[in-house]
Amino acid sequence: MCGIVGYIGPREASEVVIGGLQRLEYRGYDSAGIAVYDPEAGLQLRRSVGKLGSLVARVAREPAQGHLGIGHTRWATHGGVTEENAHPHRDASGAIVVIQNGIVENYLELKARLAAEGYSFQSQTDTEVIAHLVGHYYRLEGGLEPAMRRALAELRGGNAVVAICAHEPGHLVAARLGNAGGVVLGLGQGETFVASDVPAILDHTRDLVFLEDRELAVVSAAGARISTLAGEPVSRAPVSIPWDPVAAAKGDYKHFMQKEIHEQPRALMDVLRGRIDQDGGQVHLEDLRLDDAALRRVERIYAVACGTAWHAALLAKFMVEGLARVRVEVDYASEFRYRQPVLGADALLLAITQSGETVDTLAAMEEARAQGVPSVAIVNAIGSQAARVADAGPVYLHAGPEIGVASTKAFTSMLVASYLLALRLGQARGTLAPAQVREHLQALVELPGKAALVIERATPLCEELAERYHRASDALFLGRQFNYPIALEGALKLKEISYIHAEGYPAGEMKHGPIALIDEAMPVVCIAPRDGIYEKMLSNIEQVRARHGQVIAVGTEGDELLAAKADHVIVVPATLPLLQPVLTAIPLQIFAYAMALRRGCDVDQPRNLAKSVTVE
Ligand code: F6R
Repeated sequence: MCGIVGYIGPREASEVVIGGLQRLEYRGYDSAGIAVYDPEAGLQLRRSVGKLGSLVARVAREPAQGHLGIGHTRWATHGGVTEENAHPHRDASGAIVVIQNGIVENYLELKARLAAEGYSFQSQTDTEVIAHLVGHYYRLEGGLEPAMRRALAELRGGNAVVAICAHEPGHLVAARLGNAGGVVLGLGQGETFVASDVPAILDHTRDLVFLEDRELAVVSAAGARISTLAGEPVSRAPVSIPWDPVAAAKGDYKHFMQKEIHEQPRALMDVLRGRIDQDGGQVHLEDLRLDDAALRRVERIYAVACGTAWHAALLAKFMVEGLARVRVEVDYASEFRYRQPVLGADALLLAITQSGETVDTLAAMEEARAQGVPSVAIVNAIGSQAARVADAGPVYLHAGPEIGVASTKAFTSMLVASYLLALRLGQARGTLAPAQVREHLQALVELPGKAALVIERATPLCEELAERYHRASDALFLGRQFNYPIALEGALKLKEISYIHAEGYPAGEMKHGPIALIDEAMPVVCIAPRDGIYEKMLSNIEQVRARHGQVIAVGTEGDELLAAKADHVIVVPATLPLLQPVLTAIPLQIFAYAMALRRGCDVDQPRNLAKSVTVE
């Protein structure tokens, strides 16, 4: 969840590190800090509570000079949001500083042991324990690298750790333990970068090396030497990442979320690019390592994900069951990993994740692997952990970096990627003839244009709706069948960025409880495109109206009947029923964005949230 950056090279480290942290602030924004080393000034720490801006102001007042530095944006786990708890943390000698992403699960035990040996603590964090432990072993071993090895060998949990030592200014040491925190090294010309996530270093280099579990890197300006924690040398060629740094900048948009909503037509094109043969009625997923025979053997699929990606998994179930006739079970990854699932032979795990670093999703993949079940990951972040551990291959979204904490373009791209996977399965298993696949492909290629139309039309309408409803304290989102997950997603978007309490519900279930909440102050968003369940939805809308709820309907263009029944209608173009959620989701993103803006909320960095959830 926290963001980590390190730099060594000819430039001012504070500038490079803060620049990188700016790209990572979506990962955590409770507090931030840097440590920079200079032979004359020594180790200079600057830490600040609040968003990165307050650290930037602090560094402007009290510059930190030098060519070796590390920095951190924090999403608090252990200890409150205070300057003492902000990273970096020093060891007892003051010569070593450490930053960490993750959780040290046995930190109380380690802290008690260190305290008994006379160490005193300035913070409530688990990271300070690592600093003292590294310092402790430094005194015994006389070097940062062996000290890190010994200290890290004692940690339990998943962590990414970076340390520098004033006595060893020629390098920094970075390590990864478990799945809770990625570490990527960026190889430049005479300079090297370290980060928890790719966007932090894209401005400088695209030659990247990802550390694997229990690996450590000694990073100098000339490059990096990697080994396992046990000391075995590792040789790994850098991968080149095609992301454009401009894509990770806000451009003319007010917020990343707004930019990413508007990027959806492009993202929906990119997820299809090179994967469809319309003439032949074929889908080709380039990285999928399952041939037709393997796809035919799949008896059941376990779709696991968290949050918005879990909503995509609910829809993936409809798609795969509907098009390929393979049974799908959907699980929250955080539940799946602890429920001792019985997966059985001929199963496939489908992990859906934007970041590819969500710790629960990675643990679910591990559980599958332990049971001999292969995994496919529908994933956005190229080279992320999920993409690498998916032994049956990643299906990349190619949506480009998603920075806004609320997922938008990744969600709609996940739906299309799931659809492609369902078609690919159906094609291999003979449930879909090429002519049928062609019909689906035609609908898919029309989607980006339709999405653009939705964005254009829904934006002014949602601004009006926000003007009218932004003072609401609660909202209900109703949908049925394929649009029930969209009701969940609409409610999640609204609550996470506007702090309005919102619930998503299957419309048919409303009368079993939530209907008691409806009164004239309650906006009720009803997703009612003209599909097989449309008339049932209309009846549910009547039930809301009878309780004087304010009906905001999302329906198919040209639907006069719906327009007559609802207080407000946002229309979307028609498409195939299973693809309709791609279009009905978009106005709900725009609605949440407009509401949050009108309420003065921090859209890209909502309170308490972080983009990559690398802790349990
Ligand atoms: C909500 C949102 C989160 C993520 C969830 C999983 O807008 O973005 O609910 O969907 O944290 O993240 P990934 O997809 O990176 O695994």
